[in-house]
Amino acid sequence: MENLEASSKVKFFNGEDVPLELHKVRVVQKLFLNPVDQRLKAMRNAGFNTFQLNTLDVFLDMLTDSGTNAMSDNQIASMLQADDAYAGSQSFYRMEDAIREVFGTKYVLPVHQGRAAENIISQTFIKKGDIIPMNYHFTTTKAHMELNGGTIFEIYTDEALKIKSTVPFKGNIDTNKLKDLIKKYGTDLIPFIRLEASTNLIGGQPFSMANMREVRKIANEHKIMVVLDASLIGENAYFIKQREAQFKKSSIKEILLTMCGLADLIYFSSRKVSSTRGGGICTNSKDLYMKMRDAVVLYEGFLTYGGMSVREIEAMAVGIRETTDETVISQSPSFIAYLVNELDKLGIPVVTPAGALGCHIDCKGFLPHVPQSEYPAGALAAALYIISGVRGMERGTVSSVRDENGNDVLADVELLRLAFPRRVFTLSQTKFTLDRLTWLYKHRNLVGGLKFVEEPAVLRFFNGRLEPTSDWPEKLVKQFKADFGDSL
Ligand code: F0G
Repeated sequence: MENLEASSKVKFFNGEDVPLELHKVRVVQKLFLNPVDQRLKAMRNAGFNTFQLNTLDVFLDMLTDSGTNAMSDNQIASMLQADDAYAGSQSFYRMEDAIREVFGTKYVLPVHQGRAAENIISQTFIKKGDIIPMNYHFTTTKAHMELNGGTIFEIYTDEALKIKSTVPFKGNIDTNKLKDLIKKYGTDLIPFIRLEASTNLIGGQPFSMANMREVRKIANEHKIMVVLDASLIGENAYFIKQREAQFKKSSIKEILLTMCGLADLIYFSSRKVSSTRGGGICTNSKDLYMKMRDAVVLYEGFLTYGGMSVREIEAMAVGIRETTDETVISQSPSFIAYLVNELDKLGIPVVTPAGALGCHIDCKGFLPHVPQSEYPAGALAAALYIISGVRGMERGTVSSVRDENGNDVLADVELLRLAFPRRVFTLSQTKFTLDRLTWLYKHRNLVGGLKFVEEPAVLRFFNGRLEPTSDWPEKLVKQFKADFGDSL
């Protein structure tokens, strides 16, 4: 499994498995690695929530790849030819052409970002009492579907939530569970089946083409729509090429077209897929397009910009085409694989096999002494920031929603996600992250829990404020100073 994601086909003479950068750096941004006391203060001011940090206080921003992938020279260049028009902008038509070429879909509805697509799809197709089967939810997806009266059913395979695994496609839908669900609820209550490429919340895990074909077959038998969340489709396609024998010789372009051909409706956050900002909904069905069209003008903007700047739309067209370039879409997975494999070798609990988007640390395994009710993933995110300036994202119970009685619903998995936006971080920065994680694991007993002091009712992880359950952050800083002296 270890060599599975070697980004390039370049072998090192010394046998080392090194993720080689297949690009050069031409525009740079200065970073700040502040002293540890300053980082502790910043974390306190941020309410022990990494979303609340100012990037002036962040060294390596591994919060997300959303809107933070490096843009290519061709993307930046394309922005200069943007056609500023409210209606009929040439920029939109260039983007539409790119979508037709790469996704193979005729109709495109532009929206300002992924969750706007989720809003429109949910409002259009979900009615009260509906159920939506899917491989796994994403936070904003679930919120929109529930807001429209739907209930989501996650029908992942038994392997999906296992932290340590060698199963190459943990993002698969369990098709037996899908058949059972259809039998139990009937097709009238199922507006669509949702498949999320590179399943975000379970560690960026892909599904296989075989699985998607099986889902399509079942959907056809019951006349149910298949909706593909393509936000991380490039990486999923890359994993299909790497891990599914039948596609070893296929081009990424062929794989993308095959995947998209199996869906009725495709939506995406272009903050991820095309290294820009924005989003879209695509389909080959005029009927589906017409059902959603009015919602775009109501919530997003005219049909040729959908809330996006035309500059972004130009860059999106180029970015979507670049998704077919293996040297682009392999960069993030290869750096993730490097960090995951090094952590795994050291016995530090991490989701395997390495997936897309980021390295996912298993916080239940890392901090077994912190009960889930005290948010181990949130605590580890805060601790790692304090001792390194590396900003990760909590993907555990803080990111879930309380039940109708106000009780916390403990997340299936408590993950700290360290995102690798495409072509942003270098190998030495990755090694620094590895080094500080190794130190933190050695001193893991110093890390305690968190509790909410201010908890928003909706998507609480974004703006919530927490505080430590003891003075553990001070003790951690003391140990850091004892071991690192005046090193940052
Ligand atoms: N679907 C998936 C699979 C996502 O990962 C995201 C966003 C969305 C939909 C929503 O898109 O942010 O453009 O509105 N994921 C980001 C993340 C926020 O950090 O993983 P959006």
